[in-house]
Amino acid sequence: MSELAAIVTGANSGIGLSTARELARRGAGVTVASRDPGRGGAAVASILRDVPGADVGFRRLDLADLSSVREFAAGVERVDLLINNAGIGMVSRGVTKDGFELQFGTNHLGHFALTGLLLPLLLAAPAPRVVNVSSDAHKVGRLDFDDLGLERRYGKMSSYGRSKLANLLFTFELQRRARRAGSALLSVATHPGATATNFFSVGPLQPLLRLFLRSADDGAAPSLYAATSPLIRGGEYLGPTSKPLRPSKDALDEALAARLWEVSTELTGVRFQEFAHN
Ligand SMILES: NC(=O)c1ccc[n+]([C@@H]2O[C@H](COP(=O)([O-])OP(=O)(O)OC[C@H]3O[C@@H](n4cnc5c(N)ncnc54)[C@H](OP(=O)(O)O)[C@@H]3O)[C@@H](O)[C@H]2O)c1
Repeated sequence: MSELAAIVTGANSGIGLSTARELARRGAGVTVASRDPGRGGAAVASILRDVPGADVGFRRLDLADLSSVREFAAGVERVDLLINNAGIGMVSRGVTKDGFELQFGTNHLGHFALTGLLLPLLLAAPAPRVVNVSSDAHKVGRLDFDDLGLERRYGKMSSYGRSKLANLLFTFELQRRARRAGSALLSVATHPGATATNFFSVGPLQPLLRLFLRSADDGAAPSLYAATSPLIRGGEYLGPTSKPLRPSKDALDEALAARLWEVSTELTGVRFQEFAHN
């Protein structure tokens, strides 16, 4: 059995696939957590081609469906490292299976629920880490708790920015709660930088993206650093070169983070029992 059990969400493409491949190369047991069995299976096969004998497998996870998140979490036996990487960006208004605004529901609430459901297993690990792939786009995000569905006014970019702001608020609040509970859990966020992945869909011009943007391997570098560096203390927000970045004022607002935590608990029904009373 591998020494480190890692779960990477959205590991079937882009930054997540590069992250999963490199973790497997370094000897971790890796679960490719992906919503589509065909794409997930292809990712596993591609990792096995590059890293023969890798300890890698696929499990289905749709972050836009809380019943899928619960089913996934119920099947996990061990996890040392959770990389909340999956994300959608700048899409037209939609809702998740549970009726949440699509970008907030997928990028934040799905990962919030997943992390909370896996918390007992993470806390049983000797050195647990949670890495949340955020973005500097969080700076355009605003959280209005009176319009979480963005029914009054929807913008593709502002909705994406809001979900990435939620990723950062969650990262920092998780770290504070871990510390207060005396847990060794480290919670870290990253901004991969503009990276040539399916995130930017330009049809037949897709290969041209690589001329202007970072490669997926480069985009995965901060995730890998956050996941493996002994220098990580928790609560960092790391940029494309793995150096700390300054988050927005809102992202550092502890009252906002605490409120988001409560609201996310209400919406998902996931309680983070071990961190609930601190
Ligand atoms: N690329 C950039 O420039 C950039 C910059 C800053 C931050 N980021 C962040 O980096 C992360 C990875 O994105 P990427 O650039 O690698 O894009 P990508 O290639 O589009 O990868 C996104 C991954 O998320 C998965 N995903 C989407 N919705 C999901 C759901 N409901 N359930 C489970 N998985 C789902 C996708 O699965 P499918 O293949 O099934 O769609 C895919 O595996 C995202 O969180 C993104 O916000 C990217």
